Amino acid sequence: MDPNVRPGNMERITTPALAEKFIAEQIAAIKAQVGNKKVLLALSGGVDSSVVAALLIKAIGKNLVCVHVNHGLLRKGEPEQVIKVFRDEMDANLIYVDAVDRFLDKLAGVKDPETKRKIIGAEFIRVFEEEARKIADISFLAQGTIYPDILESKDGVKAHHNVGGLPEDLKFELVEPVKLLFKDEVRVVGKALGLPDNMVYRQPFPGPGLGVRCVGAITRERLEVVREADAILREEFDKNGLAGKVWQYFTVVPDFKSVGVNAEGKRTEGYLVVLRAINTRDAMTATVADIPFALLQHITDRITHEVAGVNRVAFDLTPKPTGTIEWE
Ligand code: XMP
Repeated sequence: MDPNVRPGNMERITTPALAEKFIAEQIAAIKAQVGNKKVLLALSGGVDSSVVAALLIKAIGKNLVCVHVNHGLLRKGEPEQVIKVFRDEMDANLIYVDAVDRFLDKLAGVKDPETKRKIIGAEFIRVFEEEARKIADISFLAQGTIYPDILESKDGVKAHHNVGGLPEDLKFELVEPVKLLFKDEVRVVGKALGLPDNMVYRQPFPGPGLGVRCVGAITRERLEVVREADAILREEFDKNGLAGKVWQYFTVVPDFKSVGVNAEGKRTEGYLVVLRAINTRDAMTATVADIPFALLQHITDRITHEVAGVNRVAFDLTPKPTGTIEWE
């Protein structure tokens, strides 16, 4: 039997009881696979790696070493939440790496989107590798591979391994407890493991994070604008029952200033914040979410008043095609 093929008779995990059964089976399987050895995991705080972390903590406790790399391109509050949930509440063995300066220095002045992505990906592997080398006796690497990753990599759509770029001498044996699950099942399991809802039902977030939403060459100032405006958008979508209904929503800040006027009638030059909210099944095509106009006005009011340096907000009305979901 191919371990990377989901058996035809495998029941879809849709209920807490089925999730508990899966969790018990996986804990036994993890214990059998790794014994007393140590396992390393890159923990982003996304749903897949968080579920894998929670499963491994239950199975092997502190023999799981989680590494959370803060590359400075995460959403507001995310690194803090990873520390709170995993270190404080689950008593995990968590290494927090503040790599913000390192990433932002490497990205300074880089305009081309694909070059930005490559720098972020390569630097991530390098930081993770350095941490891996500091820890003695690591035998296994855990990954949040899920079934669509396996199907897509079989079809040649994309390479699925999150940290697949590690050098030859760091090729650990893999532990991939959710690799036969679909995303909805991972969420049911995450809920049963006690992870917070805003982690379990989180919208997709690209690996390069806010880096591709701070259009062109990233500056610290504009990155803060993207992050603060994104936090307001998310807060308002939460409050107004849109979180979980709209597939993906975020803010984008182009690399130019717009002319405006302040309450005293003085000319200003400030950033433009673009709001994007889309619905899709598979991210290959997308439609624009129908957001109540009054809410868009309220969000505009909050962003222009609460985020320093912003004098204009726009809503992106473009479906995919012709626009991609992200702006770069
Ligand atoms: P696009 O912009 O191509 O986005 O319409 C489709 C989906 O993919 C996400 N996305 C990425 N995810 N690394 C990722 O892990 C990336 O470089 C990347 N670029 C786009 C995007 O957020 C959307 O959900």
